[in-house]
Amino acid sequence: MDYLFFLSLFLLLTLSAAHRKAPPVAAVKSVTQEIQQACAATRFPQQCQTSLSQYPKLPPNPSSLQFIQAAVAIYSENLATAQSMVKSLLDNAGGSRNLTMAASTCVEVLDNSNHRTSLASDALPQGKIKDARAWLGAALAYQYDCWSGLKYANESAAVGKAMAFIDSLESLSSNALNMVFSLDAFGNDTASWKPPVTERDGFWGTIASGDSGPVGGVPPNLKPDVTVCKNGADGCYKTIQEAVNAAPDNGDGKKRFVILIKEGVYKETVRIPLAKRNVVFLGDGIGKTVITGDANVGLQAMTTYNSATVAVLGDGFMAKDLTIENTAGPDAHQAVAFRSDSDLSVIENCEFLGNQDTLYAHSLRQFYKSCRIEGNVDFIFGNSAAVFQDCLVLVRPRQLHPEKGENNAITAHGRTDPSQPTGFVFQNCVINGTEEYLALYHSNPKVHKNYLGRPWKEYSRTIFVNSELAVILTPQGWMPWSGDFALKTLYYGEFGNKGPGSDLSQRVSWSSKIPQDHILAYSVQNFIQGNDWIPSSSSATPSS
Ligand SMILES: *[C@@H]1O[C@H](CO)[C@@H](O)[C@H](O)[C@H]1NC(C)=O
Ligand SMILES: *[C@@H]1O[C@H](CO)[C@@H](O)[C@H](O)[C@H]1NC(C)=O
Ligand SMILES: *[C@@H]1O[C@H](CO)[C@@H](O)[C@H](O)[C@H]1NC(C)=O
Ligand SMILES: *[C@@H]1O[C@H](CO)[C@@H](O)[C@H](O)[C@H]1NC(C)=O
Repeated sequence: MDYLFFLSLFLLLTLSAAHRKAPPVAAVKSVTQEIQQACAATRFPQQCQTSLSQYPKLPPNPSSLQFIQAAVAIYSENLATAQSMVKSLLDNAGGSRNLTMAASTCVEVLDNSNHRTSLASDALPQGKIKDARAWLGAALAYQYDCWSGLKYANESAAVGKAMAFIDSLESLSSNALNMVFSLDAFGNDTASWKPPVTERDGFWGTIASGDSGPVGGVPPNLKPDVTVCKNGADGCYKTIQEAVNAAPDNGDGKKRFVILIKEGVYKETVRIPLAKRNVVFLGDGIGKTVITGDANVGLQAMTTYNSATVAVLGDGFMAKDLTIENTAGPDAHQAVAFRSDSDLSVIENCEFLGNQDTLYAHSLRQFYKSCRIEGNVDFIFGNSAAVFQDCLVLVRPRQLHPEKGENNAITAHGRTDPSQPTGFVFQNCVINGTEEYLALYHSNPKVHKNYLGRPWKEYSRTIFVNSELAVILTPQGWMPWSGDFALKTLYYGEFGNKGPGSDLSQRVSWSSKIPQDHILAYSVQNFIQGNDWIPSSSSATPSS
C-alpha cells in the first residue's frame, strides 16, 4: 500500500518534472529553520530568508561559513548587475554633466566594492574575520556612496530604477556583513546569532589584545625609487602624478614604491588608483613640500568626492613630511584636501589644510601619526576606521564675516551600518584653534561654538581619549545633525581627556563616558589591527 503510494507519487513527480521547461529550483526550496537562524543575524531578515532559500548552491546543513559565502555570492551577482546599470547610465548620460559625474563616480566605487568583496571571499575560509569585516564594510559603504551620488542626478526613469536596485543590493550586502559581525562577535554556532549591536547596547566585544598600542609609523631611511622636483632637473619628474604613474600596477604584496617629493609648491590634482599599492610619498617637511588645489562643490558638476587635491585608492599608502591643502577658501563649502580609501595606510607628520571637509578619511583602516589638521565645518569626515595619534587638530576661521560666529563640528563620521567596524579614534591629540581663530574666539567667546563631532550618518562613532581639549570647545561637546537624527544609534565616547574643554558635566545626554574596562577596544591593535601592519617605531628600529 505504502509502497504503491510512493511509487505513484514518484512517477507523478518525475512525469510532471519532465514536462516542465525549466526545473523550478526556487519553488522547491523552503525557508528552513537553519536559514531562519542564520538570518536572525541580519537587519533585513525577510530579504535574507528569501534570497538564501532561493539560492541553488546553498549546500544541505550549511555551516556558518557556508551561509556567509552564500550571502556574499548572492549580493555579488546583484553587484555585477548594478555595475552594468551604472555603466549604461554613464554611456547614455548625454549632455548631463551632473549625471556624467555621478555615474562615473559610481563606476569607480562599485568597481572598488567588487574588489573588496572578492578579497573578503578569499579571507573568510582562511579565518581572517577582521579583514573580511573591514572589506565587506567598505564594499557596502561604496554601494551607499553610489546611491547617494545618484540622488543629485535623478533625472530619468533609468536613474530612479538603478537607485532602487542599488538600494536593495545594499540590504543584501548588509546581510552578509551582519553575519560576519555575528561570527566575529558570537562565534560560529548560528543559534547564537542576533542582529548587530553597538556600544549603545552595551556591547564592546571581546578584546583580542591587551596591548594598548604600538608606537609605529612610516619606516625611516626608505630609499626613493623616483624623485619629483620643481625644475625637473637630473631625471626627476616635474609632477607628482607622473611619478605615481610610474609605479607598477598590482606589484607584489609588500614591495613599496617610494616617491621623494622635493621642496616646492605643486599645484596639481593627484590620483593614486586601486592597482597602485604601497606607494609612499616622502616630502622635505610640512610647509616645504606642498601639494595644493582648489576644487570645490561650487564648481559646475563638482562633487565632494572628486574635489580632493590628493586622493588614494591603492592599499598600503604612506606619506610623511608634507602638506596637502585645498585653498578654495572659507566660503566655498565642501572642498577636500585629502581623500583616502587606502586600507592599511600610514600617514605621519603630514599637514592637511582646508576649511569645510579638509580630510576625507573615506573607508577602511587608516593610521595618522603626529599630523596637523586644520579646518572648520566637519573637517575630518568619512566612514573609515581611522586612528589619529599625537595629532594637532586646529579650528580655523570660517565665514567671510567670522566675527559673527559659527557652529563648527570637528568630525562628521558617516557609518551607515552598525556592523561596519568603522569609527574615528583620537588618542593623545590636541584640539585647539589656530592663532587667528583663537584671537577671534577670545574677542567674543559667546558666538563661537565648536563641537567634537556630529552624526553624518546613523551609526556615527567617534572617540576621544587622553587628549587635550582647549577652551574653544562648547560644554555640550557634541552637536546634532538634524533634529534627533542618529542620536539613539551613534556612539560618541570620551575618556581621560584634559584641558578646559574636557569637562563632562554639561555634555549632551547622548554622549558617553567610556567605561574604563572597555578603553582597550579603541587601541590601535583592537580597532584597526595595527600591530599586524604598522611598521614598528620609526625612531627605535631604523631599517632600509
Ligand atoms: C546639477 O547639480 C547641482 C547641484 O546639485 C544643481 O544645483 C543643478 O541644478 C544640477 N543641474 C541640472 C542641470 O540638473
Ligand atoms: C528619482 O526620481 C523618480 C522620478 O522623479 C522618483 O519617483 C524617485 O522617488 C526618485 N528616487 C529617489 C531615491 O529620490
Ligand atoms: C566552530 O568553532 C569551533 C571552535 O572554534 C571549531 O572547533 C569548529 O570546527 C567550528 N565549526 C565550524 C562548523 O566551523
Ligand atoms: C591652545 O593654544 C593656545 C595658544 O597657543 C595655548 O595657550 C593653549 O594652552 C592651547 N590649549 C591646549 C589645550 O593645548
